[in-house]
Amino acid sequence: MTIKPTTTQTGTPVASDEHSLTVGTDGVTALHDRYLVEKLAQFNRERIPERIVHAKGGGAHGTFEVTGDVSAYTRAAVFQPGTTTDTLQRFSSVAGEQGSPDTWRDVRGFSVKFYTSEGNYDIVGNNTPVFFIRDGIKFPDFIHSQKRLPGSGLRDATMQWDFWTLSPESAHQVTYLMGDRGLPRSWREMPGFGSHTYQWINAEGERFWVKYHFTSNQGNIEMEGSEAELIAGADADYYRRDLHDAIEAGDFPSWDVSVQIMPYEDGKTYRFNPFDITKVWPHADYPRVLIGTHTLNRNPQNFFAEIEQAAFSPANFVPGIAASPDKMLMARIFSYPDAQRYRVGTNFAELPVNAPKAPVNNYSQDGAARHHYNAPEAPNYAPNSLGGPVADPLLAAEGGWENDGELLRAAARLRSEDSDFGQAGTLYRDVFDDAARARFLDTITGAISGVERPEVTERAIGYWTSVDADLGAKLRANLAAWAEADLLAEASAGYAAE
Ligand code: HEM
Repeated sequence: MTIKPTTTQTGTPVASDEHSLTVGTDGVTALHDRYLVEKLAQFNRERIPERIVHAKGGGAHGTFEVTGDVSAYTRAAVFQPGTTTDTLQRFSSVAGEQGSPDTWRDVRGFSVKFYTSEGNYDIVGNNTPVFFIRDGIKFPDFIHSQKRLPGSGLRDATMQWDFWTLSPESAHQVTYLMGDRGLPRSWREMPGFGSHTYQWINAEGERFWVKYHFTSNQGNIEMEGSEAELIAGADADYYRRDLHDAIEAGDFPSWDVSVQIMPYEDGKTYRFNPFDITKVWPHADYPRVLIGTHTLNRNPQNFFAEIEQAAFSPANFVPGIAASPDKMLMARIFSYPDAQRYRVGTNFAELPVNAPKAPVNNYSQDGAARHHYNAPEAPNYAPNSLGGPVADPLLAAEGGWENDGELLRAAARLRSEDSDFGQAGTLYRDVFDDAARARFLDTITGAISGVERPEVTERAIGYWTSVDADLGAKLRANLAAWAEADLLAEASAGYAAE
């Protein structure tokens, strides 16, 4: 093996990686030791800001293979029969920071980037089909309440429950979070969802509303709270390690990808708002239609370059796929590329992990760390008469929908079956079994017993009573029993110490 000489970042050989330049062997260090200065300065800049949410995660490269036929519903090349597309997937926790334990109870992020022949398409979802809020203007407040108190820097049950109980639209997602779904055994053994309603457009220009489902071929397997707590202490990177080791061993995890499809006109008259991300669509109304299979088969070679700098965005649509009138989705379409310009840099889309496989032709230029540029004779403005790229609405196949027209700030029009608590109650009563309901009651009792303001505790009991009256009564009794047990424990601890 030929050993290469060490060089500076500008390619000139350096004299030593062990001794800095000093005046005499014991003397002061010379500032003009440019390699020392470069090495320390570069090191100081190794970290970029962590993602404001979903900071802790991991991921891998993969392949998406179409096995079904949804060509009647979308013209997107990535979903046409027989197509195979390279992908990148990142999994994450929402609230914890970079070093936080993987097995803390949380919703898990589920992001997939498809490097399609028509540009990058990203599905940036979670392991739950719904979300806590339905208007993006509440997102920073929601996240503040789940992260840390500005004063003490501690996480705080009181503010979490204060926010949730004052935002009753959160009930469905909090039921998922406090249920078994909040503690998957691994990223491989959980489902994924696009969560929002998206729009598909077919070759004839017909529109449909769709919801994505990723069904794990490893099954949906969860862990007990006590096990998750032990693992959190013993191996904070448990999920990251599990995914890495499985792929390294050739045990490639896969998910079947399907969509629920709602005819465009149904969206206007359906019994509840089908664009509300706090709701699921019953499968009896809109059954799942298989598109294909997503398989993860290659670990990153460099975690920072390929996972930390990866930029997923719900704004990345391709022809034949578009947004819907979901207010959360529209806020996200602004938020992600904005975060990435700050977190990774203006030209984040040029990095190999983010660059599309499709050609990029436009008139944008310059900015920090610009790498690609057009030929010197190419025009940098449009319209031009010099043969520069021309936008084509037919190729873009953008979606659209009719609007009410008036500009205002208001909740979406309520339909006959719109309710904040109804689907949460169904999840608790009809989807959870007896054992899952018992675990759920224990989990919310434990979480709410950390609340330090009695009026917030009372509101939390009211919140769960609205989900299910029997659950509310059991919670009240459980909280009282736990409080009494705590007082007894404190009293006996005091006695023993004297
Ligand atoms: C308006 C509401 C929301 C806003 C403003 C928002 C904002 C953000 C931001 C700024 C990031 C960091 C992006 C980056 O630095 O690369 C992020 C990450 C993420 N968000 Fe959201 N988010 C919202 C709602 C949601 C919803 C509803 C879901 C799932 C259905 C979701 C799933 C994710 C995931 C999975 C990531 C991690 C992406 C990755 O793996 O890099 N977010 N979000």
